[in-house]
Amino acid sequence: MELSGFYKLSVEERLKKIKEVAGLTDEEAELLRDGGALKIEVADRMVENAIGAVHLPLGIATNFKVNGKEYLVPMAIEEPSVIAAASKAAKLTLPDGFRAEAEEPVMIGQIQLVGVDDAVAAVKKLEEKKEDIMKLCSEQLKNLEKYGGGIRDVVFRMLKTPRRDMVIAEFEVDMRDAMGANMMNTMLEAVSPTVAEFAGGETRLRIISNLATKRKVRARAVWKKDKLGEGAVDKILDGYELAANDIYRCATHNKGAMNGIDAVALACGQDWRAIEAGMHAYAAISGKYKPITHFEKDKEGNLTGTIELPMAVATVGGATGTLDTAKVNLKIIGAKTSQELGMIMACVGLANNFAALYALTTTGIQEGHMKLHARNIAVLAGASTPEEIDGVAEKMAKENNYTSDFAKKALDEIRKG
Ligand code: MEV
Repeated sequence: MELSGFYKLSVEERLKKIKEVAGLTDEEAELLRDGGALKIEVADRMVENAIGAVHLPLGIATNFKVNGKEYLVPMAIEEPSVIAAASKAAKLTLPDGFRAEAEEPVMIGQIQLVGVDDAVAAVKKLEEKKEDIMKLCSEQLKNLEKYGGGIRDVVFRMLKTPRRDMVIAEFEVDMRDAMGANMMNTMLEAVSPTVAEFAGGETRLRIISNLATKRKVRARAVWKKDKLGEGAVDKILDGYELAANDIYRCATHNKGAMNGIDAVALACGQDWRAIEAGMHAYAAISGKYKPITHFEKDKEGNLTGTIELPMAVATVGGATGTLDTAKVNLKIIGAKTSQELGMIMACVGLANNFAALYALTTTGIQEGHMKLHARNIAVLAGASTPEEIDGVAEKMAKENNYTSDFAKKALDEIRKG
């Protein structure tokens, strides 16, 4: 397939080409071209080879009270039950809500040095030059310093690898309300020649680390035993114990928390891949992949849940400045700083994780999920008006039958009156 020079074409021309190659109908091509809230010119500026935009449902999770303040939480996600689950779990924490805290917004960036004659001596030399290196960093971060951010520390270490010994210089930069990847990478590239000169070696990688262990958030909530029903706390603890001791369950357990965190990230224009990478690496930092949440019973027999993970999020810069929907969603959530946003996201993650465990260990996850999915099944079965869609969905929920045959039968009955 010949697509050379694709990037030089206009969005229209690219779309025409893809339409021909992939055999899209006019209607299908139009679906992509319709950027909705994302203007196609903006999409074209944001990425290469743009041909359109994809859309996800955006909903608002309710009942979130964090450190005494109430929040409306925008979530963008294709999975039917996630927003409802977060809202329900948050409601069950009221009137107290969640307590949360965030570390300073410090990101780590690495410069890899190879070809040093003596790695131990190179580390020593770099340590002697630490002040000069910090000064160089500071020169690169003048704008960030205006907002109270800037270089906080540089540490040097030797790394023995099967290929050869290396020296790693790790830079800690307070990014304030930015995520900081661009600022960090620009700074690393600018200071690396001098660092290499001091170390007497050559630089290879100069890049931010997504394992943002200096930028963690923590949240906590108590779910009262009386609200959860007979035996629910112990059942949830049994469910939690599986994740704590089995990696196959633990991946799914952590995924449930990320359902909420990613959905807020997507709605608010965050780099959700960075958050995901940081979460998984942090979950495995002890050498064993563990849950990012922890559940236990308090003295009164209530369930306490906690979550801790790195949270590299922003309220300024990156897509928060280019995506209009991100700007609006940040206004809805009302987080004034990256730390506040990170704390809310941790609470949403904890809420979704709790909700999944609660459902899984009591009614099973499918009941709630299928009730919400029923409307999609109704549409696939041919229901076209809101009355038909809701009517078919209600019949499916009542009979606990979510097959397409049953949906078609239910639709026939509704149409016959
Ligand atoms: C589905 O998206 C998420 C769950 O699988 C999470 C879990 O099992 O804890 C329900």
